[in-house]
Amino acid sequence: MPRKTPEQLRSHRWYGVQDLRSFGHRSRTKQMGFGSEDYAGKPVIAIVNTWSEMNPCHAHFRLRADEVKRGVWQAGGFPVELPAMSLGEPMMKPTTMLYRNLLAMEVEELLRANPIDGCVLLGGCDKTTPAMIMGAASMNIPTIFVPAGPMLRGHWQGKTLGSGSDVWKYWAEKKVGNIDDRAWGEMEDGIARSFGTCMTMGTAATMMSAAEALGMSLTGASSIPAADSAHPRMATASGRRIVEMVWEDLKPSDVMTPKAIENAVAVTMALAGSTNAIVHLIAMAGRVGVKLDLDQFDRISRRMPLLGNIRPSGKYLMEDFFYAGGLPAMMARLKDLLHLDCVTVSGRTLGEELEGAKVHNDDVILPREAPLAAEGGLAVLRGNLCPDGAVIKHAAAQKDLLVHEGPAMVFEDYNEMAAKLDDPDLPVTKDSVLVLKSAGPLGGPGFPEWGMLPIPKKLLEQGVRDMVRISDGRMSGTSYGACILHVAPESAIGGPLALVRTGDIIALDVPNRTLTLKVADDELARRRAAWKPKEMIYPRGYGQMFAKHVTQADKGCDFDFLEGNAPIPEPEIH
Ligand code: FES
Repeated sequence: MPRKTPEQLRSHRWYGVQDLRSFGHRSRTKQMGFGSEDYAGKPVIAIVNTWSEMNPCHAHFRLRADEVKRGVWQAGGFPVELPAMSLGEPMMKPTTMLYRNLLAMEVEELLRANPIDGCVLLGGCDKTTPAMIMGAASMNIPTIFVPAGPMLRGHWQGKTLGSGSDVWKYWAEKKVGNIDDRAWGEMEDGIARSFGTCMTMGTAATMMSAAEALGMSLTGASSIPAADSAHPRMATASGRRIVEMVWEDLKPSDVMTPKAIENAVAVTMALAGSTNAIVHLIAMAGRVGVKLDLDQFDRISRRMPLLGNIRPSGKYLMEDFFYAGGLPAMMARLKDLLHLDCVTVSGRTLGEELEGAKVHNDDVILPREAPLAAEGGLAVLRGNLCPDGAVIKHAAAQKDLLVHEGPAMVFEDYNEMAAKLDDPDLPVTKDSVLVLKSAGPLGGPGFPEWGMLPIPKKLLEQGVRDMVRISDGRMSGTSYGACILHVAPESAIGGPLALVRTGDIIALDVPNRTLTLKVADDELARRRAAWKPKEMIYPRGYGQMFAKHVTQADKGCDFDFLEGNAPIPEPEIH
């Protein structure tokens, strides 16, 4: 493809023409201390920064933005930093998922409204990765995603602690008196030792890895710990590369092809990545006009060996994964299962990028002949309880629960569950199936991470540490257990989950991918006739827009008016 000329840059119509408006654009750029030699005829590169003091995972992004700028200057571009809403997973309520689409819209419109030729996205904490890529894909200008990178391993009393996963594990022990307040306080001090994202294979590590497999980051970027000096060097290299990408006009639509999206799904499965990736990848694919359905995830999962021995499904943490060779090394072991001809943001194919990648620790990245499991970590279930599907991370569940039948213990919403769960008279046994309603995209609202329902205290005291749980919510990627999630359609819109009552028998069969409510059809019809929807919680503002336009879990929870890749007109020249 011929290289662009300076006159073909998008920013040329702001800076390069001679009219009244461009006088304003140039004089106001000079107001910031930049001379025409800084910007004239150069690609303008937006560094979209989700730095925030309410997002500890992105605490290093002020530095990283400068490091990206260094690369942009080196390559002859003009860098400008554009702050965007940060979605700090540890802080935001009711859930960051409520705001993923808002950040996506913000990124898209920031890029559209300003004289931007290419962009570097700084994200990583859970929803920020899909949101930013969704927005940039819709705008479809050259884009590189710079992942925040995982934080360092946690430490406590000589043990390694993993974000989220070990919190859930030790909280259950604290509840039954196996851990005292002092030890719990020490854990609080030692679990988050540096900036960067959760360092288990949670949603952040999953989505950063998926973005790399998709070709949207420089190869190897997603596994670098945030505090490693390789991380700023990667940021600077991304800054250099984006300038070239603008001249080459290498856009997200060239990178995020159907085959590249399959690579992202495949890598997610080989890592036993977060169930949230299913929702996000469907939404990301939707922005480039690619339809990804739940059955594709299941098909790909069945052929992908689980090689990433990382918590919560495995033993290690992201720092170990990096030292073992990181994602390129793992992908090199899966070459025959990936589409190697996909072009990445480097301009080279994935196959070329993986040349020479080697595994340095076979216990962290397992050999093909000895995987953690013969198939990928996630499965899609179907049945009369989830006509539009449900998902389970079976790799992180107690194996004897994967074929299970038991009576339902139903909670109509989160507050009812929180109030009743630890009641010593709660009628549950280890064979019960805990059911939580009103946790879906509309019911939560916002599709909160309530899907790993806590084990009732009386069962914890009996030594129970896992049981079958069903909800229309999500769960954190750092969570684990036999949790069936994303039940669609959700209960708030009258999906079959809304009709379940305590005592109904529910059958789960993961090998055969079924989830069945064993209640006669005529009884279900009677219940449906009596069912009434709850009132919507958001009467105004963004929440109301969310409620009107969000799609169901199996469709990716994007807004219906943001899906697809129809071209959007450039701003008018005024
Ligand atoms: Fe930010 Fe987990 S809280 S990545």
